[in-house]
Parts: sequence; C-alpha cells; structure tokens
Amino acid sequence: MNLQLNRISFGNPADNGNVLTPQEAEALLNKWVLNDRLKLHMKQVGFLMKCWAKEKEQLSEDDQWRWELAGLLHDADWDQWPEEHCRKIIEELETRQVDPEIIRAIASHGPAHFGVQPETKMDKMLYAFDELSGLIHAYSLMRPNGYEGMDVKGVKKRVKEKAFAASVSRDEINDALNRAAISMDELINFIVKRQGNVSV
Ligand SMILES: [Fe+2]
Ligand SMILES: [Fe+2]
Repeated sequence: MNLQLNRISFGNPADNGNVLTPQEAEALLNKWVLNDRLKLHMKQVGFLMKCWAKEKEQLSEDDQWRWELAGLLHDADWDQWPEEHCRKIIEELETRQVDPEIIRAIASHGPAHFGVQPETKMDKMLYAFDELSGLIHAYSLMRPNGYEGMDVKGVKKRVKEKAFAASVSRDEINDALNRAAISMDELINFIVKRQGNVSV
C-alpha cells in the first residue's frame, strides 16, 4: 500500500488559527470512524496532545485545542478508507479551511508512510504519542486492573517483546523519541498517568 503524499505544503496560511469546534470534530469522528477501538485511540492521542500542550508547553487554551484536534483527527480516514489514509482527512480539512499547522501535523504522523517529516513540536509530539499510546493501551487490556498500578518498567518490557503488539514498529517508536528529544521513560510515564481517563 503506497500512502506517500508526495507533497510538503498543507493548507492555506490565510487559515491560520481556524479550527473545528468540539461539536464539529465529534460529528466528523462519528461519521467517519465506525470502529470504537480506533475512535478510542484517536481520543486518547487527542487527550495526550492537549495535556502536553498545557502542562509541558504552557500553551493557551486555544492552542491546547489545536493540539488536541490534531490528535483527535489524525486517523479519521483509516477506518473506511485505509488505502487513502491521511490523504482523505487532509483534503477534508483543507476544504474546511482548517489551520495549516494542524493539517501538517496530521500529514507528518508517519514519516515512513506519508513521506512528510515532522518539523514543529506539534508534529513531533503527535508522531511520538501515536504508536506508544497504542502499545500501552494494548498492555492495559491484558492486565487484570488495566492502567491501575502500571509502571514504566512493565511497559518497557512489552516494548522489548517483539511479539507483543507486533504491528507497532519499534523502529518508529525510537525514531519518534529521537526527533522529539524525549526519553522513553518520560514519555511512557506521561502516557501511563493520563491515558486511563479517556473513554469513547
Ligand atoms: Fe495513522
Ligand atoms: Fe494513530
């Protein structure tokens, strides 16, 4: 499956700061994402993006929502149009005249697949949260108490176990952490402490 986007510029600079409202984002998710597991993944990544923007970057509430929106929508087209993954949601957000920074972050959430390099902090954090979030959630599902009592050591063991959540590329996890200049311990700890609060 070739998902290369073959472009490096996204959205229109005149649309800077334009967002979907929470209601519009929810409606898009409900219409495009019929699979609840995928919807939960997108909400988890959205929540992590918002928490990071708030706690680590000390951004305004408007900016926190822009980060959250990038996380919330990054896989919107994956459920119904996997062979158009990323292309379709990008075009939809361009039609809706959404902030180019949000569209760019979505376009760069898998550089190996889409051929777009993460550049901004928003880009890099979306890429970094994406795969680790999924692996950690898979781990929570096999633990009797889910996220309760989960620690960094346990998650790192699962990362080392190639057969666990085998679809999650360990190379991509390491590449994303390098680009974001964050240690695996810090990111795992951040996710484990917050992700259990999200539900569909
Ligand atoms: Fe994706
Ligand atoms: Fe994802």
